[in-house]
Amino acid sequence: MADATADVTDGILPGDHWIQVPETGNNGDGDSAISDPKSSTASLTSSILDYRTIQGRTYHSERGNAQYWAANDAAQLDSMDIAHHSFTLALDGKLFSAPLKDDELKNVLDVGTGTGLWAIDFADTHPQASVVGTDVSPIQPTWIPPNLRFEIEDCTQEWTFQADLFDYTHIRFLVGSVDDWDLLFARAFAASAPGGYVESVEPSAFITSDDGTVTPTMALGQWGKLFVSGSRKFGRTFELYEKGTVRAAMEKAGFVDIKEIDMKMPLGGWESDPKRKELGLFIQLGFLRDPEGYILFLAHALGWTKDQIEVYLAHLRKELKDPKVHSYYWQKIVWGRKPAA
Ligand SMILES: C[S@@+](CC[C@H](N)C(=O)[O-])C[C@H]1O[C@@H](n2cnc3c(N)ncnc32)[C@H](O)[C@@H]1O
Repeated sequence: MADATADVTDGILPGDHWIQVPETGNNGDGDSAISDPKSSTASLTSSILDYRTIQGRTYHSERGNAQYWAANDAAQLDSMDIAHHSFTLALDGKLFSAPLKDDELKNVLDVGTGTGLWAIDFADTHPQASVVGTDVSPIQPTWIPPNLRFEIEDCTQEWTFQADLFDYTHIRFLVGSVDDWDLLFARAFAASAPGGYVESVEPSAFITSDDGTVTPTMALGQWGKLFVSGSRKFGRTFELYEKGTVRAAMEKAGFVDIKEIDMKMPLGGWESDPKRKELGLFIQLGFLRDPEGYILFLAHALGWTKDQIEVYLAHLRKELKDPKVHSYYWQKIVWGRKPAA
């Protein structure tokens, strides 16, 4: 019988554990240079450029309710760009899974757009649509398609878009950034046009394997526990996948015809199928570009020292590069439709 007191963070190892089994390795992937912070959006004020710094890495400025856990500097933005390529590969080049009538789309929203590559690709391939990408960090490029604009918006605050506007709303990788997912989808529902779709893509934080090559005490096996445990300190869940949070929030908001797909995302080129191998190599590349930018804020919240984090990351990199380790994580795509009026 399942232990009712069991928790996904059971068995988390302290930062000190990693110091006792030190690894040599190159941890120098943390280029903390800030990308060009200029933005063309009218809502940009200088305060959003007051980035916070943790151990030499920069994070979005203190702004309202926003609490985003990954860095916003050059190394992390590279990783985000590679991740966009991986997600697109996973969908065989498609940018969405909802049954959109491509040429009928007028208004499209990308919430938490990051470096904006999804929004740029979507705007390029849908020249008749007006696309807006929002984010709390001004990290978007300035050379963009004419039918795309970026705005600095905190999606956890009251939305400023008019009601019944968007034919399609895309929300990808906001895990750990949203305090109230029901409210987020209620706001997306209000902003959706009747008949419009909302689509979410969110990962599990847990890295696992089917053949026991990822064990709970490996750095990879600890990754999800660190995320869940660290994020509990600031009230943002990393258990969306495990708890079915997104689908439940869409149902509560009133979306209908909800569908979901689970995708197995390999870390490394260990699968034999050539397409899956290519996918795994890109996911691995994105991850290896900046694991520090993902984990630093959360490990810091757990009280880990810089040395502990660096040694943990050395173990993680070694495991990620080991072809005998067949690691992967799950990712869920969920979409639903606002009923026609
Ligand atoms: C992991 S990145 C994903 C970027 C993009 N959606 C993608 O999939 O390529 C998450 C992005 O969400 C943004 N973000 C975090 N909290 C946010 C908030 N409250 N409102 C708007 N954007 C937020 C971060 O600044 C970051 O750029």
